Amino acid sequence: MSRGLRALLTLLTGVLLYSCDAPVSYVEPEALVFEEARFHLGDAPEGWMTPDFDDSAWETMAIPQKWQGEGMYAQYRIRFTLPEGFVTTAPYPQIVVFDLSYIDDCDESYLNGVRIGKSGTMPHDGGIPQSAWDAHRLYHVDASLLQEGENLLTLLVWNRRTRGGIYDGPIRIGMARLEDLTTLSCGEDGDGDHCLLSVSCELPVKGVFRFETKGKTRKKSVKLDTSEVFSQEIHYDGGEPVQVKVSFRDSRTGMCVERDFTPKYCLTPPAPKEPRYNGPAVLGARPGSPIIFRLPFSGLRPMTFQANGLPDGLTLDTENGVLRGSVAKAGDYPIRWTAENTAGSGSGALTLKVGSKLALTPPMGWNSWNCWGLDISQGKVFSSADALINSGLADYGYCYVNIDDAWQGAARSADGTLEPNEQFPDIAGLGEWLHERGLRLGIYSSPGELTCGGYLGSLGFEQKDADTWNAWGVDYLKYDLCGYRTILDKLPKAGRKDHIFPYRKMEKCLRKQPRDICYSLCQYGLEKVWQWGADVDANLWRTTGDITDTWASVLRIGFNLQRGLAAYAGPGHWNDPDMLVIGKVGWGEGLRESRLSADEQYSHLSLWALLAAPMIIGCDLAQPDRFTLNLLCNHEVIAVDQDPLGQAADCVWEQDGLQVWTRQLADGSFAAGLFNLSDTEKTLDVRQSLADAGLGAVASCRDLWRQKDAPASFTIPTHGVLFVKYRKNEE
Ligand code: GLA
Repeated sequence: MSRGLRALLTLLTGVLLYSCDAPVSYVEPEALVFEEARFHLGDAPEGWMTPDFDDSAWETMAIPQKWQGEGMYAQYRIRFTLPEGFVTTAPYPQIVVFDLSYIDDCDESYLNGVRIGKSGTMPHDGGIPQSAWDAHRLYHVDASLLQEGENLLTLLVWNRRTRGGIYDGPIRIGMARLEDLTTLSCGEDGDGDHCLLSVSCELPVKGVFRFETKGKTRKKSVKLDTSEVFSQEIHYDGGEPVQVKVSFRDSRTGMCVERDFTPKYCLTPPAPKEPRYNGPAVLGARPGSPIIFRLPFSGLRPMTFQANGLPDGLTLDTENGVLRGSVAKAGDYPIRWTAENTAGSGSGALTLKVGSKLALTPPMGWNSWNCWGLDISQGKVFSSADALINSGLADYGYCYVNIDDAWQGAARSADGTLEPNEQFPDIAGLGEWLHERGLRLGIYSSPGELTCGGYLGSLGFEQKDADTWNAWGVDYLKYDLCGYRTILDKLPKAGRKDHIFPYRKMEKCLRKQPRDICYSLCQYGLEKVWQWGADVDANLWRTTGDITDTWASVLRIGFNLQRGLAAYAGPGHWNDPDMLVIGKVGWGEGLRESRLSADEQYSHLSLWALLAAPMIIGCDLAQPDRFTLNLLCNHEVIAVDQDPLGQAADCVWEQDGLQVWTRQLADGSFAAGLFNLSDTEKTLDVRQSLADAGLGAVASCRDLWRQKDAPASFTIPTHGVLFVKYRKNEE
C-alpha cells in the first residue's frame, strides 16, 4: 500500500472513530498523480528548466524508480495543466502541496522556474554533501505560482552512492487540506508525566480545539493567526500509557483533523539506593592485553568496592570500581565483587575468560553518528562521555565512547600518520581520560581512500593507522566500507572474497596490537557478512544499511532484516542492526526528539535485547531525559541482551500483526517479545499466546520492563511490546 493511501486510510479511520464526524462543507479536490517524467542523467544541460527546452531526446523515467549513478546529478521534467476549478474550488486555495515522495539523496525542485523546495546539500553548494534520503519531500507552495495553461515542474537531483532518485511513491500535486496545514502536537520534555498539547496552522483559522484523555473531553474555541500556536498543558500518572486524542475543526470549512498520542511513560522501576550489580557475567580478554573494566553497580555514591578471586596482574580501584591490569595466562577466572554505600551492600560475580575471544557479550556504549553526524568535535564527544558517568549509564555497563566519521585531518603527515583535524586537539588525552574512569575509546575509518563523509580512509595505510590508534589507546574500531566500494566497482565481478579482502587486511593489523581492539565491520550486510564476519575475527558486523528514527526503519532493519540471522551471533561475534535511535538524534542537522513513539521505543529496545545486538546509544547524552534513561537503564532488559549464552532471538510466530521473538538464556529460562506491529491495540491472554506461539506451557512469566510478574491478560499498544522472561513447565 502506498504511503499516501495509508495516510488517507489512517485519516479516514480517525474520522469515523472519533470527533471529526460532523459533515464538511467542502469536497477535497483530487490530487494530480504523476508516475513518469522526462529524465536526464548527468550534469544539467543549459536552459533545462525553461518551458521551451527540448527534452524529446531525454528518456521517460518511471516514478518511483531508482537509477544507477554514484556521485551524479540527474534532472526530471514534468509538464502539467490544471483541471478547471482546481484552485478556485479548493477549501484552502492559497496553498498547493507538492508531494515529491522520497528522494535519494538530495533535490532542488522548481515550479515554473521558481524554487519551491530543497533537501540535503549537493556538491555545488560547497562543503561536504549531506544526504536527505529519508526526508519526505512535502513542499507547500504559494498557489499563485501556478499558471492557467501549462506548468512545468523540474527537479535537480544528486545521488551520493550507487542507486538514487525518487524511490517511494509517485509525485502528487494537490491543493492543501486542513491536515497539510495544521500541526497537532504533544510536546514533551521526557519526564513522562506531562505534555503540552498544541495546535497551529499555516493559514489564519478559527475553530474548536478538542482533547480527550481518560474519557474526559475538553474543548476550546481558538482563533489562530498564521503559524500562531495555541497550547494546553496536561498532566497524567507517568507509570503506564495514557491515550490522548486531539482534534481541531475549522469552523469555516467544517474540515477537521485529529491525532492520537501516547505520551512517554516510564516503566523501569527506580534503582534501589543500595549497590546493585548490573554487569555482565563474563568478560573476555587476550593474555597480556590491558584490561579496563568499570564495575557496573548502581546505587548511591560514594560507593566502595572489593574483589575476591582476582588473578595476578589485576588490581581493583576500591574507590571508583575500575579494574585494570593484565593477565598473562589463558584460563577462566571467577571473580566476586562486593560494593558498599551508606544504604547497604550488594554483590555480583563475573568470570574473566582470558583467551582468544573479546566481546563475549554484545558491546555497550555510545557513538557520535546518530546525533552529530559529521558536525563533531572532541568537546561534543567529551560531553557525552562525561554524561555516561554522571547520568549513571556507566553503572549499567555502557562503556565504549566511539568517535564516528569526521575526526580525520585533511592530509597525512610526511611519515604517513593520519592525525586528527582541529576539532580533535587530543584524542590520546581523551583516551586517557576515559581509561582512568574505566571507559573505552572507539574510532572510525574506512578501508577505502575516503570515508562515507569524504574524510581520509585507511587504504594503503592500514598498519600505520592501527599502530596510531593503539598509541592513542583505542579499544574499538568501526571499519566502514564506503570508499572501498569504488575499488569493488572497478573489479569486473566483485565477489565475496573481494569483500573479505580489506577486512582481513585490517584484522591482521589490529590483532598485532598489544591491545584488545573490538573490531566492528560496517559494510551494510553485503555478501552476507554474517557468514564470514567471524572468519576475519570481527566482533560485530552491521547486517543492514543505516537506521533512522522512524518506525518504518525499525520495522525494516529490526523486524524484517534480522530474521534468520540468529545462528550467526554468539559470544565474541554479533549481528549489528545498527545503533539505537532513541533520545535526541539528528545526524548533525540539528538535534530533535526521536520520531519513534514511546511504545515504538520500548519495542526497539526490547527487540535489540532479544537480538543480542550491540547496545550503542546514538543520541546526545549531555541532557539525558528521564524517559530515555528509563529505556537504557533497565537491568533486567540489559541482562537479556548481555546473557552469557549469547543465543540471539528469532521470530517464532506471527499472526494478525502480532510477532513473537524468543531466545534461550543461560539460566535455562527464555526471553520473549510479544510485539504488536499492527495499527490497533491487542488484548491477549499472555500464557495462551506463548503456548499458541509453540513455546509450551509456561511455569512463570515476568514482565521485564515493569520488573514484576506478567498479568494473565495484557493489552499491547499499537507498535508496542510485552517483553517477558519465562520458565517452561518441566512436565
Ligand atoms: C555510513 C555508516 C554510518 C556512519 C556514516 C559515517 O553511512 O553506515 O553508520 O558511520 O557512514 O559517514
